[in-house]
Amino acid sequence: MTTINNKHVLITGGASGLGRRLVLRCAEMGAAVSILDLDEAGAQKAAAEAAARGAGPVRAFACDVGDRGQVAARAAEVLAAQGAVDILVNNAGVVSGKPLLELSDEHIERTFRVNTLALFWTTRAFLPAMVARGSGHIVNVASAAGLIGSPRETDYAASKFAAVGFTEALRLELKRSAPGVKTTAVRPFYIDTGMFAGVKTRFPLLLPILKEADVTERILRAIQHDTAQVDMPWMVRTLPLMRMLPVWAFDGIADFLGVTAAMDEFTGRDAPGS
Ligand SMILES: NC(=O)c1ccc[n+]([C@@H]2O[C@H](COP(=O)([O-])OP(=O)(O)OC[C@H]3O[C@@H](n4cnc5c(N)ncnc54)[C@H](OP(=O)(O)O)[C@@H]3O)[C@@H](O)[C@H]2O)c1
Repeated sequence: MTTINNKHVLITGGASGLGRRLVLRCAEMGAAVSILDLDEAGAQKAAAEAAARGAGPVRAFACDVGDRGQVAARAAEVLAAQGAVDILVNNAGVVSGKPLLELSDEHIERTFRVNTLALFWTTRAFLPAMVARGSGHIVNVASAAGLIGSPRETDYAASKFAAVGFTEALRLELKRSAPGVKTTAVRPFYIDTGMFAGVKTRFPLLLPILKEADVTERILRAIQHDTAQVDMPWMVRTLPLMRMLPVWAFDGIADFLGVTAAMDEFTGRDAPGS
């Protein structure tokens, strides 16, 4: 059981979407919060809003979490300003949403820098203090795309499969070396934050577009109860079982459920009003 009250929670990508909501909720729950985000103005705004709702300090730090040097420099500032991090939430993420041959080399590299490599840089910066104290929690916001690939997601799915693998290997490492430090892999289907604007679901009862507030509350509960995996909706949890089917049957189910066509009308944040 991990409490959030009086803890220092660091959230990457806390300027918008899921990260911003986690910042606000952790502040409301009595935590000190640090935000690392590319969007400095958005992060400062989220920090001011969170500080007004909570008792603990909330600080925003401009940082490209995919840049190893920047993470090291900001981590030193975070530790000096707010002390050791108790709960690290690796939430920052990017999506390109293009077929492989339309992706630029820069898109591909950015996806891996932010969605995968950043997990290494932030975790290596803040884990040592957790290990020394024998307690802590690391949440990696991966995706259901870390369990199943679909068109227009070659870079995204590959980066999230890597994030899922990273979290599993880390969990097992820590179980041996620092059992008081817990991990959570978050593997949601699409969420209504605007990051994936334009995606469609064929069966909203089975595979709903998730609400940002619901995912946030599930992540907070997972931290409190040391839950290793958060799969949303429940159907995502059946994916490893479905993998026992032959590939043609697995692909057929994904086609039938509309998963392989979900990104056909993807616009992302370029969508008007998103
Ligand atoms: N939305 C979905 O449908 C969905 C589904 C499954 C999983 N997820 C995952 O959930 C997480 C949060 O997604 P979201 O929907 O809340 O996205 P979002 O609203 O786009 O928020 C992501 C935040 O991360 C920041 N960011 C991007 N690149 C960064 C970098 N290099 N360094 C630091 N910050 C950076 C963004 O800043 P800028 O605005 O300046 O880019 C933004 O503030 C992501 O990891 C995403 O992959 C999302």
